[in-house]
Amino acid sequence: MFNKMKLWNTSKEKEIYGERIDKILSHPIPRHVAIIMDGNGRWAKKRTLPRVAGHREGMKTVKKITKSANRLGVKILTLYAFSTENWKRPKPEVDFLMKLPEQFLDSFLPELIEENVKVSTMGNIEQLPASTVKAVKEAVERTKNNDGLILNFALNYGSRSEMIAAIKHLSHDIKNGTLKEEDIDEQCFSQYLMTDSLGDPDLLIRTSGELRLSNFMLWQLAYTELYFVDVLWPDFSEEHLLEAVESYQNRSRRYGGLIGEEI
Ligand code: FPP
Repeated sequence: MFNKMKLWNTSKEKEIYGERIDKILSHPIPRHVAIIMDGNGRWAKKRTLPRVAGHREGMKTVKKITKSANRLGVKILTLYAFSTENWKRPKPEVDFLMKLPEQFLDSFLPELIEENVKVSTMGNIEQLPASTVKAVKEAVERTKNNDGLILNFALNYGSRSEMIAAIKHLSHDIKNGTLKEEDIDEQCFSQYLMTDSLGDPDLLIRTSGELRLSNFMLWQLAYTELYFVDVLWPDFSEEHLLEAVESYQNRSRRYGGLIGEEI
């Protein structure tokens, strides 16, 4: 059940938000929400702070939005935390970003456990620093029996390299006889991707006003509803998440057909 207390301080606000939340909860909530968390650097620049200050603030937004998504009943929240292209950034920034998952889990894991959140990752985590890998694996292990929100971090993730790895794995299975060429179809290919058991996102949110997918879940986003918002990630709030979900609920998903499937 959504904790309405989080959203208002005054009774007037309660009146406005109470109705709003009830309306949102009476329509289908996107099962899988994916977010490209963009704009940390610009947030910091606006305040004449170093870029890493934006990432630190962005980490606080991750905590807030995880809780909000869980309260709304979202089942999977996939967050693009570090892309295969992000290695090209200056080393001090990369080093800082590498430490964030550990910092995040150090301070937030007990709460995630309490909130029944299950932590998962996609991407090549073995290339991350050993202490980051350890922290992430420990979080995955300690939350593996939770059955609330799945908080899926895309870490050292890139969609094209994911697809190449899937094709290599698939060719290997054909060679060793565990897969027949005629059995390859979209569903089969999806099973070779890192999202195998998670399924495709229903809603993709990208913050900061950029209109790109930046090598994120290119296969999985084929029929996802896209929502671009001109708010920098550290400023993205529960209110913005509600707006995104409301926008999703007002769309008609046709999956390429003519008859709309009302959301
Ligand atoms: C993009 O903003 C953001 C990133 C590359 C890093 C995302 C990381 C976080 C939000 C921190 C939380 C992470 C964890 C694991 C809890 P940008 O730096 O490209 O911003 P800019 O486009 O304004 O420069």
